[in-house]
Amino acid sequence: MTCSGREAKKGAAMGDVGVIENGAVVVTGGVIEWVGPDEALPAGDYSRHTHIDASGKAVMPGFVDSHTHLVFGGYREEEFSWRMRGDSYMSIMERGGGIHNTMKATRSASFDELKASARERLDRMMRLGVTTVEGKSGYGMDKETELRQLEVMRALDAEHPVDIVPTFMGAHAVPAEWKGREEAFVDWLISDMMPAVRGLAECCDIFCEQGVFTIEQSRRYLQAARAMGFKAKIHADEIVDTGGARLAAELGALSADHLLMASDEGIAALASSQTVATLLPCTAFSLREHYARGREMIDAGCAVALATDLNPGSSFTSSIPLTIAIACIYMKMTPEEAVTALTLNGAAALGRADKVGSLDVGKQGDILILDFPSYKFLPYHVGMNIVKTVIKNGKIC
Ligand code: NIG
Ligand code: FE
Repeated sequence: MTCSGREAKKGAAMGDVGVIENGAVVVTGGVIEWVGPDEALPAGDYSRHTHIDASGKAVMPGFVDSHTHLVFGGYREEEFSWRMRGDSYMSIMERGGGIHNTMKATRSASFDELKASARERLDRMMRLGVTTVEGKSGYGMDKETELRQLEVMRALDAEHPVDIVPTFMGAHAVPAEWKGREEAFVDWLISDMMPAVRGLAECCDIFCEQGVFTIEQSRRYLQAARAMGFKAKIHADEIVDTGGARLAAELGALSADHLLMASDEGIAALASSQTVATLLPCTAFSLREHYARGREMIDAGCAVALATDLNPGSSFTSSIPLTIAIACIYMKMTPEEAVTALTLNGAAALGRADKVGSLDVGKQGDILILDFPSYKFLPYHVGMNIVKTVIKNGKIC
């Protein structure tokens, strides 16, 4: 299956995953050189290529996990127990836990500690078929730690087969030392932090939520980010509908993420924009919330992506199988839509749809071989990892 395309697929187009029966792919120098039916493979000298026989197996592009917080210190297993007993995510954050808890652990973790734990997470993601992943800062909220998180991502991107797209998310919460001075904190993020992370981060993200950052603060932050050359992403309408989806569409953000509470108007605004609606079903599952309206969003014409939201609080999982299962079973997406959402549309949510996310000539040779003859086994073999072989830039991992 090629998932062919160089930009996000919207609405009904998400159902087209470009199946080729008995297909073949040629990767040369890490780049896809040819793709098509095996019988049409051009005659040529392939003696220097490694030949992989995938007969009876589905072959597809590597997964793109376009929303994760993979670099962090510490864990929050106690908070999970509290939530299961009925505490809400926001009430834990308001009493100094949640993101603040991870902020303390991340501030006190060294570069090497952060790198070692993130590397293990990356290894696990790769075994699940992820070949490109987004990583957010946002557990420092001071200059030193934000830079350390982004530098860890840069080092891992250079060393590890999985590509990391770094996002600056200094606006993840208001740290205690800035409490009551929220506007000044946003000013500082814009005037001091954004220039400092230029060259280290490609995107800027903000947690636009009641009790965290307002819609006006989010607009100001993301407009400044855009003016400095960053791409914009936004945690939007997760707990309360604050109009984040509309703001994302208005600003031409790459993606609006979460969207559990997005209004009909928000969905319509996304559908008439190029902004990808990134849904994070494992977060809703872990927080015992209802799911985002994936089916309705696709029917309304949105480009939907799926991602894990891996983080130590609201979604401590990098499970692509669980993401697909929930998307199909509860969000009523088809297997084809789920595949598009985790490949081409994930790539578009990172501004990389021209490089990864499909098996198209000229794109990176990021390819998965599944243990079964069809992608339809991805949701059907519930919660199981059916990725047999991961090929990154043409190399078997
Ligand atoms: O996407 N909602 C805000 N940020 C993260 C959670 C971060 C955390 O709890 O540590 C999210 O769910
Ligand atoms: Fe997140």
